[in-house]
Amino acid sequence: MNFTEKEISPLASIEEWEDDLLERYPEPKNAETKKKKEEYRNYTDSERVNTVREFYRLNHTYQTYDFVVQKEKEFLKFDKREMSVWDAIDFLNTLVDDSDPDTNLDQFQHLLQTSEAIRADGHPDWFVLMGFMHDLGKVLCLFGEPQWAVVGDTFPVGCKHSDKIVYPEFFEANPDSKDERYNTKYGIYSPNCGLENVKMSWGHDEYLYQMMKNYLPEEALYPIRYHSFYPQHRDDAYSHLMSAHDYKMFKWVDKFNPYDLYSKVPVPPNAKELRPYYEDLVAKYLPATLKF
Ligand SMILES: [Fe+2]
Ligand SMILES: [Fe+2]
Repeated sequence: MNFTEKEISPLASIEEWEDDLLERYPEPKNAETKKKKEEYRNYTDSERVNTVREFYRLNHTYQTYDFVVQKEKEFLKFDKREMSVWDAIDFLNTLVDDSDPDTNLDQFQHLLQTSEAIRADGHPDWFVLMGFMHDLGKVLCLFGEPQWAVVGDTFPVGCKHSDKIVYPEFFEANPDSKDERYNTKYGIYSPNCGLENVKMSWGHDEYLYQMMKNYLPEEALYPIRYHSFYPQHRDDAYSHLMSAHDYKMFKWVDKFNPYDLYSKVPVPPNAKELRPYYEDLVAKYLPATLKF
C-alpha cells in the first residue's frame, strides 16, 4: 500500500498522540496526580484535535488483520539495522519534537524521566531498564513508517473493534469490520484465550517486545508490549480475551502507565551524570548490539 505524505504524517509530531492521552486521561488510574490537567495544557486545542482525529481515522481504517501480518513479516526479520542501545537512542533523538509546550525535551529525555521516576520509587532494576527502553520501538518512524503504524492506542485485530476504543466510528472504514471472520465479539479467538494468542494492531509496543523478549523478565515485557493498549488497561474493553495470567501481569502495565504519562517535568534529568548507571544497567541485561 502506498500512502501520501499527509497520510504518513497526519500529526505535526508523534508526541501529539501522548498529549492527547493526557487530555483523555488527566489522572492516573489509581493514584493521585501531581500535575492537574490545566497545568499540562496551555495551548489551543482545536488544531491538534483535528490532526489527532485524522491520525485515528487513518489508524482505524488501515490497521487490519492483514496489515499487521504484513508488518510483522517486514519488521520482525530485524534486518534493517544493527545498533547498540545508545546508537538507537541517538537515532531516535533525530525525532525532535518542537510542538510540545509541556516540555521541550527530546525522546531520550522522555525515556530518562520515565526510568528515573521508576528508580526513585525503588523498583527493581529491570523495571527501571524497561522504562528506559519502552519507546525505543518508535525508531519505526525513522524507517519511513506512517505515524499511525508506530504510535496510537493499540487494540486487538481479528475480532470486533470495541466501542471503547477512541473514535470507534472510524472503524466503519476498516474492511475487517465487514469481514465475518473478524467482526464478532471473539472473531478468530476464544473466550479468555490469553493475549499471547491475540494479534494486536501494529506499532512500537509489539516491535520492541519482539526485540526484547529473550532478555527481560515477563513483568517487564508486559508493559513494553501493552503500554499503548489503553482500551484495556484504562477501559477494560477486552477482558473477555484475557487469561488469569494476563490479569496478573497487567498489574505491571498499570504500574508503569503513570510513569509513562505523568513523569514529564520541565527540569531535564542530567543525562551525562546518569549515563554510567544506565550503561551498566543496559550491559547487565542486553547484548552489545540489537537488531532492528
Ligand atoms: Fe510508548
Ligand atoms: Fe512513553
